[in-house]
Amino acid sequence: MRKLDATAARYAALGNAILSGGFALLSAALLLLHADALQWRDPGVERWLDAALLLSAWLGLIGWLRYRRLPAPRKPLPVADVAAGHDPGAVVADARVGTAQIEVGVRVVYASQTGFAEQLARQTLQSLQAADLPARLHGIDALTPDELRRAGRVLFVVSTTGDGEPPDMALAFSRVAMKQPAQLDGLRYGLLALGDSDYEDYCGFGRQLQRWLQASGARPLFDPVEVDSEDEASLRHWQHCLAMLTGVSDLPDWQAPKYQRWQLVERRLLNPGSVGDPCFHLELKPLQGNANWQAGDLVEIGPRHAPGKVATWLAANGLDGRVPVAHGKERVPLTELLACCRLPDAGEVDGLDEAAVAATLRLLPHREYSIASLPADGALHLLVRQMRGRGGHLGLGSGWLTARAPVGAQVALRVRSNVNFHAPRDARPLILIGNGTGLAALRALLKARIAAGHRRNWLLFGERQAAHDFLYRDEIERWVADGRIERADFAWSRDQAERIHVQQRLHEAAGKLRCWVDAGAAVYVCGSLAGLAPGVDAVLREVLGDERVEQLRGHGRYRRDVY
Ligand SMILES: Cc1cc2nc3c(=O)[nH]c(=O)nc-3n(C[C@H](O)[C@H](O)[C@H](O)COP(=O)(O)OP(=O)(O)OC[C@H]3O[C@@H](n4cnc5c(N)ncnc54)[C@H](O)[C@@H]3O)c2cc1C
Ligand SMILES: Cc1cc2nc3c(=O)[nH]c(=O)nc-3n(C[C@H](O)[C@H](O)[C@H](O)COP(=O)(O)O)c2cc1C
Repeated sequence: MRKLDATAARYAALGNAILSGGFALLSAALLLLHADALQWRDPGVERWLDAALLLSAWLGLIGWLRYRRLPAPRKPLPVADVAAGHDPGAVVADARVGTAQIEVGVRVVYASQTGFAEQLARQTLQSLQAADLPARLHGIDALTPDELRRAGRVLFVVSTTGDGEPPDMALAFSRVAMKQPAQLDGLRYGLLALGDSDYEDYCGFGRQLQRWLQASGARPLFDPVEVDSEDEASLRHWQHCLAMLTGVSDLPDWQAPKYQRWQLVERRLLNPGSVGDPCFHLELKPLQGNANWQAGDLVEIGPRHAPGKVATWLAANGLDGRVPVAHGKERVPLTELLACCRLPDAGEVDGLDEAAVAATLRLLPHREYSIASLPADGALHLLVRQMRGRGGHLGLGSGWLTARAPVGAQVALRVRSNVNFHAPRDARPLILIGNGTGLAALRALLKARIAAGHRRNWLLFGERQAAHDFLYRDEIERWVADGRIERADFAWSRDQAERIHVQQRLHEAAGKLRCWVDAGAAVYVCGSLAGLAPGVDAVLREVLGDERVEQLRGHGRYRRDVY
């Protein structure tokens, strides 16, 4: 029960007790007024009937009031259904565990020393509840491996204190429960690890927890998110993960990015004739000053609605879009503000004028895209797949970038450093594995390697059909021909009867994989969270062994940027 509900229930019980006590006192006072001895007189059939009717009406009223206070019955969710849209494998895998003893909702578990992890855990809980997902909050001190086994899905929000130590409230859990692996095969988890990279053991406890969960057989819902000193962008990335988990794509940002103004200068379809969704190459330039970034970095963009959609909404609500309204420190026409905000549902703004409506608006959530170029290319390149929702409507972010924004349009964009996916500093061999739009980040990494004169690059890329989906074909073929890419393997899943994916190509090249890793190679994986990431991980573990894979991960030689 939530805190407010519990307080209301306590007041109701107190009220009932006072009322009943009052009635008892009144009856006693009336009895004392009776001078004669009490004797029974039959009131007659009619009065009996009246009394019965009154009693039934009263009982009916009480029953109806109680029924109204009960929560609406929820349709039970299958254990893995929140990830279903993105991770079909998860449904099958979890079905084996069975739903009988496993909880349906999500538990949010925090380990906090000075309160930040707890605060973020509460915000996480609110986001899940806003998406109608049953969720509960716990401190890690109230958790046992047994509960984890039953939990089904858990989101951990944990900080690190001391010299890479757990917060005090997690000491018992870390010393007792994490002493050895537990049997957590049925558990799926997400991890938000808070830390500060000025400390030697960055996110120490979060990483210990991650290792223990993996050793215990628990499976991640998405890659752990590490937050360096309250970095807003990593926190927004966590919210992106929550949106994926809940399937609700317009969960509001906890804090909006501080966008700059960019201009869309070019857009080109890269996969005409594809059986898949269209994929576009985009080029953008900053409208003020210069921008800087490194291969592996991302952008956050602020989506916008189509102008027609805003006009229709204004007409339906009888509002004038030309009226200037407050937007931060500026004043902009209401139309302009609405274009980048969630449009309130029918009835939400009844009776409000333009200024009052503006005060209720919330910015549309941002979307992230990998940068596919280097600053030396003279423009920021993106590779964006046009997504569609279940009703066929264009995706919020990809729809804006690939269809609604005309070439020449201003785009609200912010470059976000993604240190985890920066190229290795030295000349070590690099294995770049990706599918679909995952090629964007790999292209930037390849450009950086080529610019630095590093030729030991092995690209493994997968898409549907070579004839239509070989993105950036000319460029890649040129790099292979020049020896700037030493080895390239492609998996065209639909070019033969049976489906072939990148992980199979990697498996076929197991001997080479061992040689490259022995020679110090780093493995970078970018692309789909659902198929590619677990598939490649399984091959790496099969070929190199779990211990070696963990070593690679620990030394920053196995990095993933999957979504
Ligand atoms: C780190 C990172 C890097 C990314 N880089 C790129 C990139 O380089 N190019 C690119 O095209 N996209 C990239 N994405 C994905 C991108 O951020 C958006 O999620 C995607 O464009 C869909 O957003 P939307 O607003 O268009 O769709 P929404 O309005 O959110 O949803 C429309 C439909 O698409 C489905 N959907 C949304 N996201 C996904 C997904 N990831 N997988 C499967 N279905 C989904 C929704 O369930 C819904 O049915 C990246 C994501 C992350 C986290
Ligand atoms: C005394 C102290 C020690 C810390 N030690 C580490 C550390 O070893 N590694 C790390 O990554 N962060 C360290 N941090 C940073 C915290 O993990 C970070 O500030 C976090 O956001 C705190 O979250 P909390 O308020 O939930 O405890 C330390 C912070 C403090 C105050």
